[in-house]
Amino acid sequence: RIRRRELRSPHGLDSFGPCFFSIFKSLVPSEDEIVKQEQLLLSLKKLVKKEWPDAELHLYGSCANSFGVSNSDIDVCLAINDYEISKLDILLKLADILESSNLQNVQALTRARVPIVKMMDPVTGISCDICVNNRLALVNTKLLKDYAQIDQRLRQLAFIVKHWAKSRRVNETYQGTLSSYAYVLMCIHFLQTRKPAILPCLQGMEATCRVTVNETECAYFDKVEKLKNFGARNKESITQLLWAFFHYWAYCHDYTNDVISVRTGRIISKQEKDWTRRIGNDRHLICIEDPFQVSHDLGRVVDKFSIKILREEFERAADILQYNSNPSVTLFEPYIP
Ligand code: CTP
Ligand code: MG
Repeated sequence: RIRRRELRSPHGLDSFGPCFFSIFKSLVPSEDEIVKQEQLLLSLKKLVKKEWPDAELHLYGSCANSFGVSNSDIDVCLAINDYEISKLDILLKLADILESSNLQNVQALTRARVPIVKMMDPVTGISCDICVNNRLALVNTKLLKDYAQIDQRLRQLAFIVKHWAKSRRVNETYQGTLSSYAYVLMCIHFLQTRKPAILPCLQGMEATCRVTVNETECAYFDKVEKLKNFGARNKESITQLLWAFFHYWAYCHDYTNDVISVRTGRIISKQEKDWTRRIGNDRHLICIEDPFQVSHDLGRVVDKFSIKILREEFERAADILQYNSNPSVTLFEPYIP
């Protein structure tokens, strides 16, 4: 059955701009929620100081990188220089402390790739994951936050993409789809490669901040207040970018050969990363290079089943933005198995 479809012109989605913008607005956490997050962090700090006076607690992930939507869990990192006791013992001790302080559903997940303690604070209703000494996560959190300050279209695009990914259930790493972190990197890379570019490549510029974490050198230009007009020559609207983002991942990305790399601001080849073969469980069916841990492919969780699901969802999204009469609703329709 052939349906007559009319191709939208590049401006065809413009009339939906206000709808997508109000979706973005509705996802931004309220002031009240941010106050509650800070309250919780403060009370956790007090608990931790009692046991480990020199330890620090830092927020990371979406509550600190400015890509957090409302009602998210918060991610906290305990930074501690205690070599007498192992990381796992620290986690177990931490779980004890939290348990005896009225925090609920305390669980130590010691066997996860990144071991954490999970818990829920009954006072604020906020859930929280705490990891130990994950300093790379703190650095990549700052990198994402710095990118977000350069051009406001990044946050708008990433919020909508994350909302789409959650609605369509393709934001579940344990099911072989991608993390929120991976989606934000995809958005950054996409804006780095627009013509003219909307975002620079901060790691390709003269480094103004530099830290070494477990032998990994993390360096980039972080004076982002100097880059406020970087993307001004590009006039693309959020709806045009959204269309082009999904169009790229549905129909243009070369899944066989290409790796997207925020570190270089370019596409690099699987060949040069030696990501052409399956090694163990890493399949490299969609390749997203971590900006600092460059041997780490954020697409490695994707398997031969979930790659199909992902690509079908990219196509669905691209087609909705191309043809659908109510794209700002249809795009986010929940996936029902
Ligand atoms: N992270 C990482 N490497 C990964 C996944 C995550 O370093 N493979 C770190 C990043 O610092 C990221 C944080 O863990 O910001 C949290 O990851 P994730 O839960 O994917 O993203 P959030 O931004 O917290 O998204 P959400 O709003 O869905 O919680
Ligand atoms: Mg998170």
